[in-house]
Parts: sequence; structure tokens; C-alpha cells
Amino acid sequence: MRVPNHIAIILDGNGRWAKSKGMPRNYGHVKGCENLEYICEVAKELGVKYLTVYAFSTENWKRSREEVEGLMNLFRNYLKKCIKISKKNNMRVRVIGDPSAFDEDIQNRIRELEEFSKDFDELHFQIALNYGSRDEITRAVNRMLEDQRQGVLTGPVTESMISDYLDTAGIPDPDLMIRTSGELRLSNYLLWQLAYTEFYFTDVPWPDFKKDELVKAIEKYNERDRRYGGVKEA
Ligand code: IPE
Ligand code: IPE
Ligand code: MG
Repeated sequence: MRVPNHIAIILDGNGRWAKSKGMPRNYGHVKGCENLEYICEVAKELGVKYLTVYAFSTENWKRSREEVEGLMNLFRNYLKKCIKISKKNNMRVRVIGDPSAFDEDIQNRIRELEEFSKDFDELHFQIALNYGSRDEITRAVNRMLEDQRQGVLTGPVTESMISDYLDTAGIPDPDLMIRTSGELRLSNYLLWQLAYTEFYFTDVPWPDFKKDELVKAIEKYNERDRRYGGVKEA
């Protein structure tokens, strides 16, 4: 099986999964977070080099106060726990998105985790937090304008210069994008980076997305006629 170098996932369906079990939405997020830990291990085992997951969008602030608070507490715990996980999995962790909207302690945990894991290199794990592709591109353009004012950047602007100003600078574009739980849209995820990526959609909700489902997605990917790099033999 050829394993994609970079898999991007929109982990969707935690709320509906919990509701189907008569449980509150935040219970779905707790189980979704456990599944994220598990899928990181599976991805590493399979030989995936880059894994990028959408955990909280710039639009997700509009959810109920209770749900947003629950998610923030989950991120607090997970970011701390992830220090150990990063070591265990030899996994470098980076956060993409705009962390400035989070409470100071969450921002500190993000910095600690990124710093602690920066030399691990078996799996590169990106978590999109307060991420929106349009916001990412807008921030990139503003930084470019600032660098131009400072004389650090001179035109003409090229595609690779734009890539270098995005939060994903230095990270290869995804080869496979998976969205769980049935929705067929991108919800403002990696619009620039997914230009040539293969898409895989499944009805399985995120907390039920296990190794067999990931392997199925990779097998489907293998059946496609890839004209644009990024695969390796495993
Ligand atoms: C994805 O699950 C996790 C986050 C967006 C934080 P959802 O919370 O979107 O679950 P559904 O789509 O409402 O079922
Ligand atoms: C996308 O899922 C964002 C994340 C998975 C974090 P949503 O559930 O928030 O997206 P929409 O609202 O259905 O488009
Ligand atoms: Mg959703």
C-alpha cells in the first residue's frame, strides 16, 4: 500500500455522535479527543509523515458558551498531555491558526508543546486551532505588506512566497484530505494547500473513525490516478 506523505483530516461529527447516544455534545468532544490520540499512533505506525487535523475553526466561536468552554478545557488538558504523547510518538507538534484569541494559559501551553517537541521527527502533527483558511491568507498578506514596508520583501510575489507566509510554511501540501461524518464541504480548511489534494468523505463520525477506516481511505486513495507527487511505498 502506498501511504500518503501528508494526510489532512476534518474531524467532524462529535456532536451528532454524542446525541445519537443520548449524551451531551461535549462528551462527543472528549471521545473525539481520545480518538485523535489513537489516530496519531495509527498514522505513525502506517508511516504517515505529516498529519494535520482541524480541531477548532474561526467560526466555531459562534457555538454555545457551554460548548466553547468545554472545548477550551479539553484543549487545556490535551495540550499538556500532548507533551508526553509527542515524546512517546517521536512526534513534532505545531499549531496552525491564530492563537491570540485564546486565554493566555492556552497560548503558553501551545508554545511549551511546540518548543518541547521541535526536534522530534517521525510524525509531524499539525493541529488547526482557531484556524480559518481565509483568516490565514489575510494574516499572511498583512505580514507581507509589513515586510515590504520594512524592505525585507520585494516583489513580484510568487506562489512559493505566499506558501512561505502561511501558517503551514515548510510543510508539504496534503496528499489526502479526509472529512468524517457525511458533510461534503471544506468549511474554510486549507484552501490554498488543498489545490491538488485527493478528497475522501465518509459517513463515519469522528469518534468511530478507527484504524480500519483510515486504511480504507488510504486504499481508496491508492485506487486513484495520481498525477501529482507525494506518495511513497510502504
Ligand atoms: C467536530 O465535531 C469537532 C469540532 C468542530 C470542535 P462537531 O462538533 O462539528 O460535531 P457535529 O458536526 O455537530 O456533529
Ligand atoms: C469544521 O467542522 C471545523 C472543525 C472540524 C473544527 P464544523 O462542524 O464546524 O463545520 P460546519 O459548520 O459544519 O461547516
Ligand atoms: Mg460539525
